[in-house]
Amino acid sequence: MASIEEVVPASIIGTSLARVDGPLKVSGGAMYSSDHNFPGMLYAVPVCSTIAKGTITSLDSSAAEAMPGVQAVYHRKNIGQLFRAAPPVGFSGLIDERRPPFEDDVIRYYGQYVAVVVAQTFEQAMAASAAVKVSYAGEKPDVSTTLSSDEKPKVDTTRGDADGAFASAAVKVDETYVTPVETHNPIELHASVAVWDGKGFTLYETSQAVGNHREVMAQMLGVPLENVRVISRFLGSGFGGKLWPWPHCLLAAAASRNLNRPVKLVVSRKMMFQNVGHRPLTQQRIRLGATADGMLTSLQHDSLNHTSILDDYGEGCGEATGYLYSTANLRVTSGLVRRNVGNPTAMRGPGAVPGLYALESAMDELAIKLKMDPVELRLKNEPKLDESLGIPFSSRHLKECLTVGAEKFGWSQRKAGVGAMQRDGLTLGWGVGVCSWIAARIGCEATVELKADGTARVACGTQDIGTGTYTILAQIVAEKAGIPIEKVEVVLGDTKLPAGPISGGSWVTSSVIPAVADATQKAMQTVLMAAVQGKDARFAGKKPEDLVFSGGRVQVKGGSAETSVAYAEVLRAANLGGVSGTGKSEGTFGVPPKVSQHSFGAQFVEVTWQPATARLRVNRVVTVIDAGRVLNTRAGRNQIEGAVMMGVGMAMLEHTTYDQRNGAPINSNLADYVVATHADTPQIDVTFLDYPDLSLNEYGARGIGEIGLAGIAAAITGAVYHATGVRVRELPVRIEDLLGGTARA
Ligand code: MOS
Repeated sequence: MASIEEVVPASIIGTSLARVDGPLKVSGGAMYSSDHNFPGMLYAVPVCSTIAKGTITSLDSSAAEAMPGVQAVYHRKNIGQLFRAAPPVGFSGLIDERRPPFEDDVIRYYGQYVAVVVAQTFEQAMAASAAVKVSYAGEKPDVSTTLSSDEKPKVDTTRGDADGAFASAAVKVDETYVTPVETHNPIELHASVAVWDGKGFTLYETSQAVGNHREVMAQMLGVPLENVRVISRFLGSGFGGKLWPWPHCLLAAAASRNLNRPVKLVVSRKMMFQNVGHRPLTQQRIRLGATADGMLTSLQHDSLNHTSILDDYGEGCGEATGYLYSTANLRVTSGLVRRNVGNPTAMRGPGAVPGLYALESAMDELAIKLKMDPVELRLKNEPKLDESLGIPFSSRHLKECLTVGAEKFGWSQRKAGVGAMQRDGLTLGWGVGVCSWIAARIGCEATVELKADGTARVACGTQDIGTGTYTILAQIVAEKAGIPIEKVEVVLGDTKLPAGPISGGSWVTSSVIPAVADATQKAMQTVLMAAVQGKDARFAGKKPEDLVFSGGRVQVKGGSAETSVAYAEVLRAANLGGVSGTGKSEGTFGVPPKVSQHSFGAQFVEVTWQPATARLRVNRVVTVIDAGRVLNTRAGRNQIEGAVMMGVGMAMLEHTTYDQRNGAPINSNLADYVVATHADTPQIDVTFLDYPDLSLNEYGARGIGEIGLAGIAAAITGAVYHATGVRVRELPVRIEDLLGGTARA
């Protein structure tokens, strides 16, 4: 007779599972922020400045106020008091634009909100917003894309003598790389539905971090924290643009309070380019020094990025530079340059994504100078430990990413030399780049309830931005309790729930595992107590420690499986509706690390080039990712595929262009701001090495939302060089670049 320990169902960790929220999404049942409607709800439409620098000299809302359905037009003089958010502490109090809307009459970027119209219908509010007459004293804005800074750059990391070693290096690369402004374009627009109840707010927000959102809104609105509830059940993605609150959130809330009515404000696609952040323009100088046989002797990475007039957003381009390669001499610096733009914000893989475009491009240029295979160059400079921190890596398999990727791609067939490879009348270009991303945990709490109807419920105040978080939580509970995943209900995205991590940094999975596992264990333990308490208990007379909970059933330790009892039955016998457990885990930030925790990967790219028609296509990508244990291979592969597509967009298409005369983002719509679509998507082969990183959690998962985007652009531009002989050092690659000598605007 098999004991219950031997009939535990096969693990669902590391398998390919469909999303538990999939049916709700495809059937239209998932409630996104702007899907919330309430009786008496009004619609708000902001009025945006038509200059990027200057002051408001007059604002006349009388015509707008007289229009049908208009309830109010708010501006600096009548919106009421709004405060600045206090300086952040950890992951709390974060907002990229700290100035509350309408704080003064100064305009610092194009599209800045100057008023907001509230009307009975959206159409009425739109029409009236166009009728608000605003006069300005405008000055010439600075949206120049050439960055220079008089300020001394900040030294982020340094070791050895980078200048001296560079001066005496046998082989050198000294190049500057530029990445343009990229705008987050999730399909779901930012939205706020604010409901004031006379005392506090319920805010339906497009938020990747409901807890932080609540703190910031409470401060800026001047209400006690406990009187604010933030809900963000489903997100049509965010890419980082929805991490922190933006000014429109304050407009909706203030209007709701002033009018004592629910107010809905949906940011337009055009406003998405003006008012809710972007990846900043970066300009990065990389200096590499090497011996004639390809050992790095010096690495310098000096980056600048633009930021807004009032707020400091540092992209952190050198994020991965300090630990990626072995070199005794290194210096990473960064600086900010102010422009008349809205404040930048984190965009998928902030820092590492533009940073690795520059560093990995320079490594490719170095390999060419050395007449060395670019894969070989990287293998040769693999460090034994994190040389920046002087501590070992928790789990680093970058060499294997490179060798496995080279094998899958067929890299050994590579012929070096521009235009050396042809197929079917096309010139082939092959390129490679490596990627890395920080692994970490954020503090997390979760509650798990095991119910008498045989289902379970897990609640956590984190969010699912479309990455699969609902499914991951269900998997953890199902795995721990040994119950079918379809029996697990997951509740997320509400500040009433136990505090969960921000949906950022690719940190959710690693953060929720210990808390959810702990909560499940505690609930299971309570089931065992219920199993022995009272004379009707199914295991009356036993002690909890005599029992074991496994496979959703309770059994005497070592006893036969046939006498086991379903936990639901144990609860029903005790007349319990359910029992719950609360789990908690600590974050890794602020704790001096003993090991360097990062994910790694290698990207191999094939482009095809048809010189006669100047047709360039990204044809094939092989990506090998070392991100610890992957809990759900389907959701995981999906993350990497999406990131690779976004990398194709970054390399070939995406750039926000500002009108130098008035500072307006010109291509502020999805027809002119081109993102990669299915038709642009290469064949993508994703491999996970799947080495558990147990320094983070018991399953060894690190998170995979961002890493897949890093390294792709450099691999593409390396492939473009291989095919065409043109090294593109300013993204995106334009056909003009490849025609030889056409000046860049
Ligand atoms: Mo990500 S840029 O941390 O949402």
